[in-house]
Amino acid sequence: MPTTVNRQVVLRSRPVGLPTPADFDLIETPVPQPQDGEVLCRTIYLSLDPYMRGRISGARSYAQSVELGQVIVGGTVGQVLESRCVGLAAGDIVQGYDGWQSYAVSRGSGLRKLDPKRAPISTALGVLGMPGMTAYVGLLDIGQPRAGETVVVSAAAGAVGSAVGQIARIKGARAVGIAGSQDKCDYVVRELGFDACVSYKTGDLPAALRAACPGGIDVYFENVGGEVLRVVMTLLNQNARIPLCGLISEYNATETTPGPNLRPLLFNRVLIKGFIVSDHMARMGEFLKDCGGWVREGRLKYREDIVAGLDRAPEAFIGLLQGRNFGKLLVRVGEDPTK
Ligand SMILES: NC(=O)c1ccc[n+]([C@@H]2O[C@H](COP(=O)([O-])OP(=O)(O)OC[C@H]3O[C@@H](n4cnc5c(N)ncnc54)[C@H](OP(=O)(O)O)[C@@H]3O)[C@@H](O)[C@H]2O)c1
Repeated sequence: MPTTVNRQVVLRSRPVGLPTPADFDLIETPVPQPQDGEVLCRTIYLSLDPYMRGRISGARSYAQSVELGQVIVGGTVGQVLESRCVGLAAGDIVQGYDGWQSYAVSRGSGLRKLDPKRAPISTALGVLGMPGMTAYVGLLDIGQPRAGETVVVSAAAGAVGSAVGQIARIKGARAVGIAGSQDKCDYVVRELGFDACVSYKTGDLPAALRAACPGGIDVYFENVGGEVLRVVMTLLNQNARIPLCGLISEYNATETTPGPNLRPLLFNRVLIKGFIVSDHMARMGEFLKDCGGWVREGRLKYREDIVAGLDRAPEAFIGLLQGRNFGKLLVRVGEDPTK
């Protein structure tokens, strides 16, 4: 056992608007002991995701809130230090849900054992994990893009958005991104192969999006809401589909924002469907087979933004809510033995 001290980031206060570092506390507790059926893991990577803003808000949602003083929830990749669970042994690398802490005990049955030879272990939190699966099921099951159609995705340089555009291309559709900077747009087009990408922060978004989508929009994969959604609505084609994945522009709002004009949805017989990836776990096998294959073939690329040290998690998370991350945001909590 390398240490007996567990470092944890707990919720000190419920943020109002954009969270601040003062909403979080870094504390030290003893490393817990596993019981029958459990394993003790040390965290290697912690995933930082937009949904965490909802969990620390206390507002009603599809999942339980983090209480004051509790460790913030989060997906993790860790190494088993001690196992009292059949099928897992010390040294194994697993994907779990241990939260913002350096050690954790959890039920072995809830862990996914990873094979570091198949893909870098960090991808189990990104392109081959929850965000990748969100892109896969949201786009293919709800968006149902057909060859030649135009798919637009917002937060296009991020974990979910970057996969959405590339999967759309693999299915023969045109992919158009919307992102928060020219750098992100250049990356999305040059590195990921999107057909076009427009920045919503600079210039005239309606004109730029119209120019990028001369045939209108058939699928809009919604990640942000607000003004971007309002502009997209003016370009929707008949029978367009909108997988409603996220509304990050509203996550820090302290008042309800006025809704968009819904007329284009009516006239164009548009389907809009909210979805939560955890309801689609039955698709995990197909997702890993397809996306794992595409990653290995170099057809599905990904970028990671890795911050070193658990103590930097609050600051990095606050940056995510402001677009400061560039790629899937991860915290390296402990040494990666596969590197
Ligand atoms: N439904 C589900 O089951 C599910 C699962 C996973 C994720 N999601 C949702 O998917 C979306 C993307 O998540 P992700 O993990 O891939 O995150 P991400 O895109 O890697 O990071 C978040 C990005 O959102 C953009 N953003 C932040 N504030 C914004 C604002 N006020 N207006 C517009 N854009 C803003 C920023 O990019 P720019 O610099 O481009 O603005 C930022 O980099 C989120 O809405 C998330 O809640 C939903």
